[in-house]
Amino acid sequence: MDRTYIMVKPDGVQRGLIGDVIHRFESKGFQLLAAKLLHISRAQAEKHYAEHVGRPYFEDLVNFITSGPVMAMVWGGDQVVPISRMMIGKTNTLEAQPGTIRGDHAVHTNRNIVHGSDSPENAEREIAIFFTPEEIMSYEKVIQKWI
Ligand code: TYD
Ligand code: MG
Repeated sequence: MDRTYIMVKPDGVQRGLIGDVIHRFESKGFQLLAAKLLHISRAQAEKHYAEHVGRPYFEDLVNFITSGPVMAMVWGGDQVVPISRMMIGKTNTLEAQPGTIRGDHAVHTNRNIVHGSDSPENAEREIAIFFTPEEIMSYEKVIQKWI
C-alpha cells in the first residue's frame, strides 16, 4: 500500500479543521494508519522542511509550524501521494481551486492548513521524522474491495 504523511498545521488545528481534513481522506477511500496530536520541535521542523533552508520564508515557516499542536497522520492507499496533493490544492493559494482543502479554507500561502508529501520518497522520509514503526498500523478494511 502507498503511504503519505499528512499534517494539519497549527492554523488548521486552531480553526477546528482537523475533522474536515480527516473526513475528506476517509470519504475518498484512504486508510488512516497512524495519527497523533503533537507539538513538533524546532529540530523536527527543520528536518521536515530541510529542502527549504535558505528560502526567504523559511524562518516564518519553522516558527509557524512549531507555534502550536499539529495533527500528524499517515494515510495509505493506491496513489495516495499524488491524489492527496490534488485534494490539498496548490501551494500558492491564488491557484488553489475551490473544492480543495486550501481552496476552501486558506487565504495566505504561509497559512495553508495542511501539509502533504510530494513524492513517495519524501513521504517515507517525513513519516520517519514523526512516527516510530510501531505507531503505524497495518490492518484490513473489508470495504477496500469496493474502493
Ligand atoms: P512547498 O513544499 O513548496 O509547498 P507544499 O506545502 O504545497 O508542498 O512549501 C512548503 C511550505 O512553505 C508551504 O506549504 C508554505 C510555505 N511557503 C511559503 O510560505 N511561501 C512560499 O513562497 C512557498 C513556496 C512556501
Ligand atoms: Mg512540500
